[in-house]
Amino acid sequence: MSTSDQFLKQQNEYIGLVDEIMQVRKRGERPLAYIRTYGCQQNVADSETIKGMLAQMGYDFTENIEEADFILFNTCAVREHAEDRVFGNVGAIKKLKKNHPTTLIALCGCMMEQQHIAQRIYQSFPFVGLVFGTHCLHKFPQLLYQSLLTGKRQFILNNDDLLVYEGMPKRRDGQFKGWLPIMYGCDNFCTYCIVPYVRGRERSRESKYVLKEARQLIESGYKDITLLGQNVNSYGKGLDENITFSRLLKMIDEIDGDYTLRFMTSHPKDCTKELIDTIAQSRHISTHLHLPFQSGSNRILKLMNRRYTREKYLDIVNYAKEKIPGLSLTSDIIVGFPGETEEDFEQTLSLVEEVGFTSLFTFIYSKRVGTPAAKMDDPTTAEEKSERFQRLLKLQEKVAAERCKSMVGTTQRVLFEEKSKKPGILNARTSGNIVVEAEADESNIGSFGNVAITEAGNWILKGKII
Ligand code: 5AD
Ligand code: SF4
Repeated sequence: MSTSDQFLKQQNEYIGLVDEIMQVRKRGERPLAYIRTYGCQQNVADSETIKGMLAQMGYDFTENIEEADFILFNTCAVREHAEDRVFGNVGAIKKLKKNHPTTLIALCGCMMEQQHIAQRIYQSFPFVGLVFGTHCLHKFPQLLYQSLLTGKRQFILNNDDLLVYEGMPKRRDGQFKGWLPIMYGCDNFCTYCIVPYVRGRERSRESKYVLKEARQLIESGYKDITLLGQNVNSYGKGLDENITFSRLLKMIDEIDGDYTLRFMTSHPKDCTKELIDTIAQSRHISTHLHLPFQSGSNRILKLMNRRYTREKYLDIVNYAKEKIPGLSLTSDIIVGFPGETEEDFEQTLSLVEEVGFTSLFTFIYSKRVGTPAAKMDDPTTAEEKSERFQRLLKLQEKVAAERCKSMVGTTQRVLFEEKSKKPGILNARTSGNIVVEAEADESNIGSFGNVAITEAGNWILKGKII
């Protein structure tokens, strides 16, 4: 039995013990858990694992925080704003704990891997009973058991365990959209980014486990599967098997079924022409490429330690546009990185215009303690940064609207996802990840269909089912 199997077997015993404790405390009634997830899809996937464990421990789930026996916030550290929200929301539940003293309040995720944050929580929020970082996810049953048994506060972080644990349970949020992590951590150390410090070194799941989970998802009717990793393009590094991300994609794509395969996030430095060819020749991979460029200025890219140039980025993007008809490109951009000048920023604007993205995730630079960029000179004022940010948004609105307009008159294969607030309308999504408000019957939710695009907004399309 492998170390990870042995460990999970031990955790199963804790799962049974928590179940017993809670059955006694709740006199046979099922305990209730409230889980709130901040940040990226990796956090959403982690929360699905935690919910899977909780379900095995006999918990049900509630959207009403007031009635929960266990409250967990899975936190994000990528920007200060995300952290401030967590501090604000944790502060707000102080009163709740007063009224329900037996409720256990826990915090986990990326924020908790930072010593200074854990310390602040320890001192300022004495009602928080359990804190654990991203590396301790697999130990959650044991940590919960110890908290319940002793009633003592537990702060478990900076655990260097970098094993990949297979076979943990999962309780998925979606019924036809599923997240599938293929790797964890990041080795890139972009100078602004906290992720490598809080999620540790890159480690990939063996392909047989990824394939098994993909097959399970497809067999149970999942229609939209997203492979997750901080840098999916370097999948396979460090594994005994000889595999690349492109090869993994091909292997999944060979599974028959009615589904779309997506992935995020790709790093431009590792995005190869082979990968683009794989997408172009595939049966199931979406015509969407999320390729964050962060800045259009080579000088800033260097300071960010991104290890590609604007020219290399354009080269791969142009190759992808040529090979993948109807390709939809999206990206992440940081405005106001330390030392960014007006000229640097204009380079970002010109790249946005040149590529013609369908949508952008734009962020004002946020200083992260412990990253190299936090020590760089940053003379640009907050007002200037905000003004640049507004200019970028305005340009993007124009570029995205043009992109959407060019699709009017086409027919798009979409997945119908949910009812819109507008009567008779469903929200659907194209392969290129563009939202379509479609006139269609509710019975279509969860299946693919063709939609004639009749109108375009700035970010979304409108159409009718054919
Ligand atoms: N400040 C602003 N944006 C950041 N991102 C990562 N770190 C920071 C930071 N310190 C953005 C990047 C990344 C996305 C997930 O978040 O654009 O691609
Ligand atoms: Fe952060 Fe860069 Fe890794 Fe993305 S690739 S998680 S931006 S360090």
